[in-house]
Amino acid sequence: MLERYLSGVRKNIQPGDKGGNDMQLIIEKNYQEMSKKAAELVASQITFDPASVLGLATGSTPLGMYNELVKIFNKGEIDFSEVITFNLDEYYKISPDNKNSYHYYMMNNFFNKINIKGANINLLDGMTDKPQQECKNYDREIKRAGGIDLQILGIGPNGHIGFNEPGDKLCVETHLVDLTEETIKANSRFFANCKKVPKRAITVGMATILKAEKILLLASGKKKARAVKKAVNGYVDTKIPASFLQTHPHLTMVIDEEAALLLD
Ligand code: GLP
Repeated sequence: MLERYLSGVRKNIQPGDKGGNDMQLIIEKNYQEMSKKAAELVASQITFDPASVLGLATGSTPLGMYNELVKIFNKGEIDFSEVITFNLDEYYKISPDNKNSYHYYMMNNFFNKINIKGANINLLDGMTDKPQQECKNYDREIKRAGGIDLQILGIGPNGHIGFNEPGDKLCVETHLVDLTEETIKANSRFFANCKKVPKRAITVGMATILKAEKILLLASGKKKARAVKKAVNGYVDTKIPASFLQTHPHLTMVIDEEAALLLD
């Protein structure tokens, strides 16, 4: 299993090509099993390379995986002291102590519960007055760390990854983005109402994600089935940013049965 996970097959696929099937697709019974499997794979990565650079996602999907990783850590089976992390995205503008910020989410659900060094945690500043500068610095830091070894991703109901929203074109680098109505609505469940959801966000771009050595995408529940199908079985299309993952030589998808419902 680990061998398969750490090897990977390169393939040549062009935008517009029908997606291939040499990604590794793991379908688990439910959310809990998906979370356990994902945590196992992340733990394997850290055992393989204790100084791994992880790209981390937020949202409800990876929450179970973070809980499982904390359990593995508490058993003394994993050491985060050399791990470096870069989070995918952050709302703009939002302060780090706002409960809906991804900064707050990461600190409270994961970082404060493991032995990662503060200096090794990289989070986007959702309050910066110089977003362009913040984006440039973030890309520079990712490069300086040698790129992402393992990128963890969720998927938006509209096929977004990070906050790379569907459109006529996709951005390569870290950038400030206007969120789509669909995303604002989907994420409003965490806020008092739609009006309270920030309308913009900063996200790493498609190149940073696709340049990661390995990608692990998680999806759970019926509401993700359409996006998963389009990402896996559809054409590579900027209107479904996740479909670009088909071009990645080392993609593992861990999804539950409900998210897999519409797959061929
Ligand atoms: C947000 C995040 C994404 C995440 C998506 C799905 O928009 N920016 O990184 O994958 O939501 O979230 P959830 O897992 O809560 O469905």
